[in-house]
Amino acid sequence: MKSILFLALLFLAFVLFALKIVVSARAEPVSDAQIQRGQYLVNHVAMCGECHTPKTDQGEYDRTAWLQGDVLDYKPVRPMPFAAVAPAIAGLPSFATDEQAIKFLETGTNSLGKRAMPPMPQFRLSHDDAVAVVAYLRSLKR
Ligand code: HEC
Repeated sequence: MKSILFLALLFLAFVLFALKIVVSARAEPVSDAQIQRGQYLVNHVAMCGECHTPKTDQGEYDRTAWLQGDVLDYKPVRPMPFAAVAPAIAGLPSFATDEQAIKFLETGTNSLGKRAMPPMPQFRLSHDDAVAVVAYLRSLKR
């Protein structure tokens, strides 16, 4: 009798453990409101497209390649660290996890402890804003 009870408890512990793994593996669900907030921050406040969206010959955003990366049209007048290419950020292809991208936008430093080179600004977004920006960028197709 005792051993049946023991086995039952063991089984219960196993089920709870498995459930915990499943629950913690699931990413935080993203709401439409967060995506809307992220699109507002990216396209109307931080203006990420100034560097990360290619321009037409008229100097306007190429709407067919939104946030798909661009070679910058300018460079510094004196030598300094400078990245002439702003990579594609639609879909955030350079980050394996949302957490890494959120940390990058909160601290200006990526998961390898490296900063992006100028002219990429070192953003210090609040956590909620970083989550929203990542939700929006992930919602775009790569
Ligand atoms: C003034 C130009 C400029 C603006 C504005 C800008 N970026 Fe960048 N960004 C760059 C450049 C240039 C790089 C490449 C830096 C490098 O190679 O080190 C870059 C790199 C990145 C990377 C890649 C980092 C990595 O480790 O792979 C991400 C993500 C990124 N930017 C996101 C954004 C977001 C989101 C915004 C708006 C909130 C933004 N950028 C605004 C110029 C800019």
